[in-house]
Amino acid sequence: MHNYLNKQLGNTLKFKSVILFVLYSEKKVDLMQYSDRLHNLGTEMAFSVLQQIQSFPQERQENIISFAIGEPDFDTPEHIKNAAIESLKSNRTHYTPSAGIPELRQAIADYYTKERNFPVAMENVCVLSSAKLVVNFSILTCTNPGDEVIYPNPGYPVYESQARVFGCKPIPAPLIEEEEFGFDIDRLRSLITGKTRMIIINNPNNPCGSVLSSHQLEALREIALEHDLWIISDEIYSNLVYDGMRFRSIAELPDMANRTIILDGFSKYYAMTGWRLGFAIANQDVVKNFANWATNTISCSATFIQDAGVVAITSDKAPSNAMVQQFERRRNLMCELINDIEGISCIIPKGAFYVFANVTEACKKKNFRDATQFQQRLLDEQDVAVLSRDYFGTRDPDETQEYIRFSYCVSRDDIEKGIARIKKFIES
Ligand SMILES: Cc1ncc(COP(=O)(O)O)c(C=O)c1O
Repeated sequence: MHNYLNKQLGNTLKFKSVILFVLYSEKKVDLMQYSDRLHNLGTEMAFSVLQQIQSFPQERQENIISFAIGEPDFDTPEHIKNAAIESLKSNRTHYTPSAGIPELRQAIADYYTKERNFPVAMENVCVLSSAKLVVNFSILTCTNPGDEVIYPNPGYPVYESQARVFGCKPIPAPLIEEEEFGFDIDRLRSLITGKTRMIIINNPNNPCGSVLSSHQLEALREIALEHDLWIISDEIYSNLVYDGMRFRSIAELPDMANRTIILDGFSKYYAMTGWRLGFAIANQDVVKNFANWATNTISCSATFIQDAGVVAITSDKAPSNAMVQQFERRRNLMCELINDIEGISCIIPKGAFYVFANVTEACKKKNFRDATQFQQRLLDEQDVAVLSRDYFGTRDPDETQEYIRFSYCVSRDDIEKGIARIKKFIES
């Protein structure tokens, strides 16, 4: 009887495989139409390097030192994990309001009001199942097809991709080393046209680790007010600033809170990348529209994860602050070691967990076409993974310098070993 059932099951599976083959054969797929939008959908190529590493044999993977990762190597603090477990055990597993549970919205509002210099009410907060969604919802809420969206370049690749896919024209605003990877303000001004609708800033910046100066924030404010623009301020790294600096949001400046949408979340400061919990802070109208987009897409963020978010934001920040201190020490070590390599130099970044190093001379010395070839040869020959400038937005044709992003989300030991390999590779 048992054998008979197995045989029947085997036959059924074979039959199903034939059907699936017929259903998914390439010929059938060719007959169907995909959206034209897909031509405009970019990607985060950083994930492709991670996939490349994962395809290596296990032994080789173990030898790889990766400075390509953009997430804390620390685990989520215990008290936050326990809060999620307790919430699950209490069956907090049902839908919540689209803008998030009131307790979390209030906790975020209180935290912002205390930490930043402007009052935030619960009605100004929309909780979402990632910070990334704030880029998406901002473009959907505040632009029309044909509008121009200015974004930082080099920058987080999602801005350019999302603007383009929804029919806007993405306009790159260069971040330049001479301005410590802040905006070239004159150049930024020259990019404004009658069609400009929005400027996206990322402060501190990925991949440069730069923090915008007060002067730059003031200039951005002037431009936004003069041309009646939206500002999307991506502040996901705002708690990762060093040298005793106090982070300042553009929304704190006079008349800016109303036209600024702050993107923030739990991924970086609380080491919660995989939990997918983010939020927007904006005027009440924007928040209502975001809640409606949430209703139309995700419905809401997971209930027990929002409960854990309440604990994260209201409880002791000692584990997060200890992590930030570690990052600062790693940054110092990494910059010292990088600046000791002939042909590579970096300015000391003020925030995030990235160093954006100039490798122009090293490329010339080793006859590499560009930083992307540098990146590939480094992985192939030294088992060290980094990301080149090309991973962070379309290159300006005038660009002459080559850059590599190093993430210091790895141990001090690995920083020493990895940079020693690069030094030997470049100087030999
Ligand atoms: C600049 C920037 N903004 C937004 C995000 C997205 O954050 P989340 O993982 O919370 O969606 C990232 C993640 O790497 C980032 O680097």
